[in-house]
Amino acid sequence: MTDNPSFLIKPNPEQLIQSAAARLAEYAEQCVAERGRFSFALSGGSTPKAFYELLADEPWRSNIPWKQTIILFGDERAVPHDDERSNYRMAAHALLHQVGILPENIWRLRGEAENLDEAAQEYEVRLNELDGQIDLNLLGMGPDGHTASLFPQSPVLTEMQRLCVSTPVAPLEPHVRRLTLTYSAINASRQVWIMVTGKSKAQRLQQVLEGEHDPHQLPVQGVHPLDGELLWMLDADAASGLHLNS
Ligand code: 6PG
Repeated sequence: MTDNPSFLIKPNPEQLIQSAAARLAEYAEQCVAERGRFSFALSGGSTPKAFYELLADEPWRSNIPWKQTIILFGDERAVPHDDERSNYRMAAHALLHQVGILPENIWRLRGEAENLDEAAQEYEVRLNELDGQIDLNLLGMGPDGHTASLFPQSPVLTEMQRLCVSTPVAPLEPHVRRLTLTYSAINASRQVWIMVTGKSKAQRLQQVLEGEHDPHQLPVQGVHPLDGELLWMLDADAASGLHLNS
C-alpha cells in the first residue's frame, strides 16, 4: 500500500507532457524487462490527446517498446468507434495508427455494442488476462471532479466486484452512456497518473486534494492504488491553488 501520492508539476502543459513521455519510456522498458509486456490504459480528454501526439513523434516513437505494449481504455463513450466522440478514435488518430502497436494488442472498449453490459463483461475477461493489474492507468480529471467515466453520484461508484461496467447517460458532454473501468480495476493498477492542466481546473483540484474527502461527489478522490503508485501530473496553472509546501 502506498501512502501519499507524488506530484510532478511543470511550468506549462508542453513541459509536463515532455517529462511524462520520458517517464513513460523508462517505465515501459522496466515493465517489459520484468514481465515481457507493458499494459497502458488510455484516457480521453484534451491533455492526454497532446500527450499521445507527442508519443507518436520522435524520439518516443522509436524509444518506447510499442511492440510489447498492450493498449487498453479507461473509458469509452457509447458511440461507434469512428464517431468523433469516441475515445478510441481520438487515440487511434493521435497515437495508435502512428506507432508500431500490434493490432491484436489494441484492446478497445466496444462503445458501439447494442448490449453495453455484455461489452463490459467481455472487457473484464480481457483484464483478467493481465491478472487484473494494469501497468499504467492514465487518467484525467473533469471539471466536476470525475475521472474515467466515474461521475459524481453515479450508481457505479459503489461497484466493488466488477472491473468494467456500463453507466447511465453521462451528466456532461457528450451526453451518452459510457463504459468505464471501476475503482477496483483502477486501484489494482501498478501506476496511476492523473494528468490535469489549466487554470480552469485549479479550484476543483484544490478541493479534491485539500478539501473534505467525499468521493461520491468528487469521484477522482476514490483513486487510491492498493499496492501501486499514484502520481498527479500538473501544470503550474492547475496547481496554482494548492498549498503543497506550506
Ligand atoms: C472522457 C474522459 C474523461 C476525461 C476528463 C478530463 O471520456 O470524458 O476519459 O474522464 O479524462 O473529462 O478531460 P479533459 O482533459 O479534456 O478536461
